[in-house]
Amino acid sequence: MHMETLAVHAGRRVDPVTGAVTAPIHLSTTFERAADGSYPLGFSYSREENPNRESLEECLAALEGGTQALAFGSGLAVLTAVLQGLEPGDHIVAGDDVYYGLRVVVHQVFGKWPLEITYVDMADEDKVEAAMRPSTRLVWFETPSNPLMKLAGLKAIGRIARDANAISICDATFTTPLIQRPLDCGVDMVMHSTTKYISGHSDVVGGVLITKFDNYLFERVRKSQRHGGAVPSPFDCWLTLRGVSTLACRMRTHCENAGKIAAFLEGHPAVERVHYPGLASHPRHELAKEQMSGFGGMLSFELRGGRAKAMAVAGAVRLITRATSLGGTHTLIEHRASIEGPETRTPQSLLRLSVGLENAGDLIQDLEQALRAG
Ligand SMILES: Cc1ncc(COP(=O)(O)O)c(C=O)c1O
Repeated sequence: MHMETLAVHAGRRVDPVTGAVTAPIHLSTTFERAADGSYPLGFSYSREENPNRESLEECLAALEGGTQALAFGSGLAVLTAVLQGLEPGDHIVAGDDVYYGLRVVVHQVFGKWPLEITYVDMADEDKVEAAMRPSTRLVWFETPSNPLMKLAGLKAIGRIARDANAISICDATFTTPLIQRPLDCGVDMVMHSTTKYISGHSDVVGGVLITKFDNYLFERVRKSQRHGGAVPSPFDCWLTLRGVSTLACRMRTHCENAGKIAAFLEGHPAVERVHYPGLASHPRHELAKEQMSGFGGMLSFELRGGRAKAMAVAGAVRLITRATSLGGTHTLIEHRASIEGPETRTPQSLLRLSVGLENAGDLIQDLEQALRAG
């Protein structure tokens, strides 16, 4: 079945009790046992399993070409559960510009745990290979990365991890299965902050881990979900699944708008560099064409004039909203270095755009006046 159809139908069924086409929200925390003590419909207690969570997991697994998914209360709750699944002394290889929350969780939440981590430029596969150790159990990466939009080769990273007996996980929050499917390229598991494009309306926080094949880490994450309990509420699952129904058409517009804005920014004299995999000037544009079926709604750009100019441009937008996060209907602009704190590797001259669903011409007009005024 095609992605557009799966986005609407996977994981859903007409409610057998009422005939409701849109599923009800199952708020009940507990489910009736049969006289013989069994749970005839498979549900017992809502932390362990819930019909709305099950629908969402089934749908997201189908979209990624996986077999199983585990939904959590946030994207970072997924990462936390994955790290809990590692053994003392395990080594992680992670992208050097992954979402900064990974560094916060590894060094501040798990600071006293004996985990080792090496950050490496995932766009350079030789460096990834060189970073692997006999104790490496996890390779965590994003492509495109955040916010420099660097590309990692999905097939190459999957192979390097496999050869070293490590599990690869791609944080695919920026792309969604509509434009990139890491499991098809040999990556072991996919993670999303569903807070972003998957739910799509900036109104629900969530995360998911998806696998195609059984593996020990996924099973440990399942335990953490059911018994550690960082689960999303039934309403959060319902909202997220409602968002997924329109994912295909939303992604098309995000990609189309971002492509137009990237081209506009690239031709503007105040802009020094644009980071967008859809531009021929992107250092791995050929790889982007190979492993992505669209180039996404995220881009970043660096301004001539450094931090002062970047802050001034962000301060001058009128239609575009200054806010963190991404993947929603509104176009958001953000000075990433100032949110990432003093240890940031992000250039001070850089602004990140999450291009929304507004008219591209209106967005370009706003950027044009902000670049002039700022
Ligand atoms: C790429 C990426 N991964 C993970 C996360 C963390 O997800 P959450 O905020 O849902 O915990 C974010 C949040 O911004 C993100 O952008």
